[in-house]
Amino acid sequence: MAVNPLWHPFTRYEADKNFPMVKKARGSLLYLADGRVLIDFVSSWWTILHGHGQRRLIRAVENQLRKIDHVLFAGFVHEKALLLAQELCQRTHFDKVFYSDNGSTAVEVGLKMAIHFEQNKGGKRKTIYTLEKAYHGDTFGAMSLAGKNLFTLPFKDYLFPVKKIPVPRSENYKAIKQILKNLGKEKPLLFVYEPLIQAAGGMVFHNRELLDEILYAMKKAGALLLADEVFTGFYRTGSFLASDALSTKPDIIALAKALSGGFLPLGATLVGREIFDAFLDKSGQKTFYHGHSYTAYPAACAAGYESLKILDRQKTQSKIAQLISHLGELAEKLRELPHLHEVRHRGMVLAFEVGSAPAGYLHHLRDRLYDYFLSHGLLIRPLGNTVYLLPPLSTTKEQLEKVYFVMENLNQHL
Ligand SMILES: Cc1ncc(COP(=O)(O)O)c(C=O)c1O
Repeated sequence: MAVNPLWHPFTRYEADKNFPMVKKARGSLLYLADGRVLIDFVSSWWTILHGHGQRRLIRAVENQLRKIDHVLFAGFVHEKALLLAQELCQRTHFDKVFYSDNGSTAVEVGLKMAIHFEQNKGGKRKTIYTLEKAYHGDTFGAMSLAGKNLFTLPFKDYLFPVKKIPVPRSENYKAIKQILKNLGKEKPLLFVYEPLIQAAGGMVFHNRELLDEILYAMKKAGALLLADEVFTGFYRTGSFLASDALSTKPDIIALAKALSGGFLPLGATLVGREIFDAFLDKSGQKTFYHGHSYTAYPAACAAGYESLKILDRQKTQSKIAQLISHLGELAEKLRELPHLHEVRHRGMVLAFEVGSAPAGYLHHLRDRLYDYFLSHGLLIRPLGNTVYLLPPLSTTKEQLEKVYFVMENLNQHL
């Protein structure tokens, strides 16, 4: 066999290895070259929203590519970038959309905007707060926001410091209250958070009221709020944005992943007029000098625009409600299985723990669980011993029922 030239992401290598070849993706199914068919319960790394191969999205991308392949986004605009931005602003309370091409970068842009905004105003605030167990991506700014953990450890000497707030859960109530009490003196610049669910940190569900208390206190202390909705956006937690279900609204949000329906790489950072206006200046000293070659890539914007139109259909809204309800029923049944712990469900996300604590990304059960699920035709990619489902909207009740039978027999394989 020829030498394998590939180095895969987030992949532990003990020696070089080859992975199954995917030949086709349709609906919730992945067809492999060796004849196996897998149900995609992770929406292809949380990107695919409606289902693989959605016909309207394919058509939208094809049509766009026939018209424009690429256009530089400095000094020019194109129709789909404008239409998508208008739609995003209409559905949120934001006024300006800054495009990029992935989640890390959408967060990085928001972070840079917040720091720059403070300087443009002549302010002196510097302190940035984030949540424990945070994950915001793999660029240096995003890694700094996460703080020291398994993923960032080799880079710890190169990351800027952030202050941490415990995850908003009732057991952390006292510790959080203590931090919030002293916020006024701290004069924080920014609080960055994944609202309601911290995904990569282990599908950690927040206590909504406690998160709202943090947001309120941060805002009162003068901090900007940056909601990283890269995972939670587009109904993943039940509402269009997770922030829609919270009382205190963010000043900046980062979107990516399902923004294009999962079809093409696209990121967006949304802000209000006040932030944008602080960058207005003739001298060029206050300008936001940031951009990427593929900023507002036309085919990706076309997919994003079409995806929103699909979301607006009554049929899609019913599908969302149905999927959420089916996941709720599945969660109820899974709670009966004694070998599964902390079964939790919010929106399109269902998660639970398997095996002994401490939980963690390198938990010894992780690979066994992954292989067991694959051998039963399920693509489920546990985060350590945290097993979760985030199915695309194309997923049927029958496909979800298969999960129950696989989980029921799981204890024989632990
Ligand atoms: C909340 C959150 N923010 C940012 C990112 C980074 O996105 P990307 O992988 O597109 O860079 C992720 C990826 O999983 C995420 O879950």
